[in-house]
Amino acid sequence: MKALILAGGSGTRLRPFSHTMAKQLVPVANRPVLRHVLDAVRQAGITKVGIIVGTRGDEIRNAIGDGSAQGLDITFIPQAVPLGLAHCVMIAKDFLGDESFLMYLGDNIIREPLSGFVDAFRDSGADAQILLSQVPDPRQYGVAEVDAHGRITALVEKPSEPRSDLAVVGLYLFGPAIHTAVRSIAPSARGELEITDAVQWLLDSGHTVLSHRLRGYWKDTGRVEDVLECNRVFLEDLEPAVLGKVDDQSETVGRVLVEEGAVVHASRLVGPLIVGAGSTVTRSLVGPYTSIGSDCRVEDASIGYSILMERVTVDGVRNLHGSLIGRDSVITPPSPACGTNQVVIGDHSRLQICQH
Ligand code: G1P
Repeated sequence: MKALILAGGSGTRLRPFSHTMAKQLVPVANRPVLRHVLDAVRQAGITKVGIIVGTRGDEIRNAIGDGSAQGLDITFIPQAVPLGLAHCVMIAKDFLGDESFLMYLGDNIIREPLSGFVDAFRDSGADAQILLSQVPDPRQYGVAEVDAHGRITALVEKPSEPRSDLAVVGLYLFGPAIHTAVRSIAPSARGELEITDAVQWLLDSGHTVLSHRLRGYWKDTGRVEDVLECNRVFLEDLEPAVLGKVDDQSETVGRVLVEEGAVVHASRLVGPLIVGAGSTVTRSLVGPYTSIGSDCRVEDASIGYSILMERVTVDGVRNLHGSLIGRDSVITPPSPACGTNQVVIGDHSRLQICQH
């Protein structure tokens, strides 16, 4: 079995980060989301992987490489225009051949091993298998309607009035019939060839579509809030270790990973958290649920439930919370003489300033 990972989306909901980086490379627990996806695919025993990339293809290629270090054989497949998930299957036809495959949306994270439902599909001889998860508001997802026996009767993409609370998770298993399906559907109202419509076509034409109910954790890391929440969940499983230096004026509590070359001085680290390689933390309170990227400088600061990407400076700022901070950003207080707040932030940024 092969895997087809879709990493071509532009990520408008992850602005401003998606202005300057591929959304699949946003770090969760100091690893790009796409790396977590590749880990899960590898764990399921799949080694031949195609990754669909769009305008940020070069950046993704540079970050991920050819996969040989992880025992993966990765082929990058460029998608010139984002014409939908079913279109991705079309352009990957040569890579996929007539083998069954796992299609995995590169911004979806689940925490349970994929092998259970990958193996079940392999043994079933079915044409497709989708994963469903119960969510409070399914309107932003594909939604499945199922009968009393749990069989899918219909799939609708982002319905304004969902007829169930079962969202389609971004992991699908397909046999070769999907290639006929993606060529048989028309673009949706948003102008895309929807994979949801292709699966509906399989249902309508009498093919076997199985569903598997996911009970465990699932997150589509589409928004900043989702990335922070996902970071929290990954940090819960962190292997604690001090590979850098933590001086004796500092205290660590709970699961704390201090990566190589990181230096912690006179600070309190409350896990779960990571201090990335080469970073320094001085006279600060950090954590819980915080990932400090590599080569950051945190001084006289307090930060919790946040992600700092590479080379961020936070100096003299207290109570940073729920923050996702992009590469090379600098956060400091205004100079005392000035009395005003100065911000230099890019398009679509969000800033919440405490007024006292
Ligand atoms: C896509 C699919 C949708 C699915 C979702 C899961 O939506 O079209 O059916 O529920 O992924 O993340 P998108 O994120 O492309 O809007």
